[in-house]
Amino acid sequence: MSTSSLPPVSSEALAAHRFFVSRLLDWYGAKKRDLPWRRTRDPYAILVSEMMLQQTQVATVIPFFERWMRRFPTLASLAEAPLDDVLKHWQGLGYYARARNLQNAARRIVERHDGVFPTMFTDVLALPGIGRYTAGAVCSIAFDSDVPIVDANVVRVLCRYFGIRGDPKTPGVQRRLWELAEELVPAGRASAFNQGMMELGALVCDAKPTCGVCPVRPECRAYRNGTVDTLPEFAPRPAFTKQTDVSAIIGHPSGDGRLLLVRRPVGGLWAGLYEFPRVTAIPEESLTDAAVRAGREVVGMATSPAEVVASVRHGVTTRKITLYAVACRPQAGAEPTAVGCDSWVWVTLEEIERYALASPQVRLASQLTGAVQQPSLFG
Ligand code: ADE
Repeated sequence: MSTSSLPPVSSEALAAHRFFVSRLLDWYGAKKRDLPWRRTRDPYAILVSEMMLQQTQVATVIPFFERWMRRFPTLASLAEAPLDDVLKHWQGLGYYARARNLQNAARRIVERHDGVFPTMFTDVLALPGIGRYTAGAVCSIAFDSDVPIVDANVVRVLCRYFGIRGDPKTPGVQRRLWELAEELVPAGRASAFNQGMMELGALVCDAKPTCGVCPVRPECRAYRNGTVDTLPEFAPRPAFTKQTDVSAIIGHPSGDGRLLLVRRPVGGLWAGLYEFPRVTAIPEESLTDAAVRAGREVVGMATSPAEVVASVRHGVTTRKITLYAVACRPQAGAEPTAVGCDSWVWVTLEEIERYALASPQVRLASQLTGAVQQPSLFG
């Protein structure tokens, strides 16, 4: 067990801890998936995988991880890459702050640690955008440091095995989970142990657990008490709110088929990504009025709206968003100015592929092929 200043646990609890650790290590050794980031102890590669795996499924991450490691094989290559390139390689994973944080962390390591990945937990935790979970994952997986991790998979495993009640998002339950995870980490085996807990949560102790194949079932409180289906006790999610977004699809005044794309300002959601000038409609505002406002507020252009040419639905946290594309003609003499964006560019639909767009905007662009063949909508 790890050395910690936590109060001693009872002998019964200690036996349950030991049972858990030894069964879990054996199970992980036998059943672990062969994943690309498990073939390396390179802390940079492990950091990349952990950043990608936050909020994203393993199967989705695999091809992104492989492509990323081919393009940015080292910390230094990531640190010196243009942000557009970094975001382009993240495109499709969503939550782009993770990509920017990853690059900022790489730059910090180059600046403050001579480009050598720090091995001390506190130094890793001090990197920009890296929290307790990610620092713990990197240090345990890459260096076998005796540090705990608690992610959504681990929450399920610990809440069920130890019969922990209460909402895991509340501070008291969080504290208890981190304490338990710390008590459990076997000295010198944190890499296998922490990954084993995540793997058990992903493969066995998931939302629909398969207790019949669980290696720790004999000592699992929830299994004994018949509470497997009620633990963890997450509070119900807040209700969704609806939102309407409108992007103005502004054609080049020459009628050459190019469309206006803008780069979102640094800071805030989707920072540094490209999109068609967009606003959130205000109550009672028509789609065409919102499109005209998008032209004015984002690129300072007076436009005349034609018609809705595409729409997609997507979600951001607790919002259900419908995004409409409205074809707009620039008014005579109107030129773009970067008033509500970082910069702008005229692009053909084919050229859009070179830019990093958030996925709703990619889906919107893919519906525009028919519309751009009707120049009267734009020019
Ligand atoms: N989820 C988060 N980190 C993971 C890892 N290293 N392996 C598998 N799933 C994970």
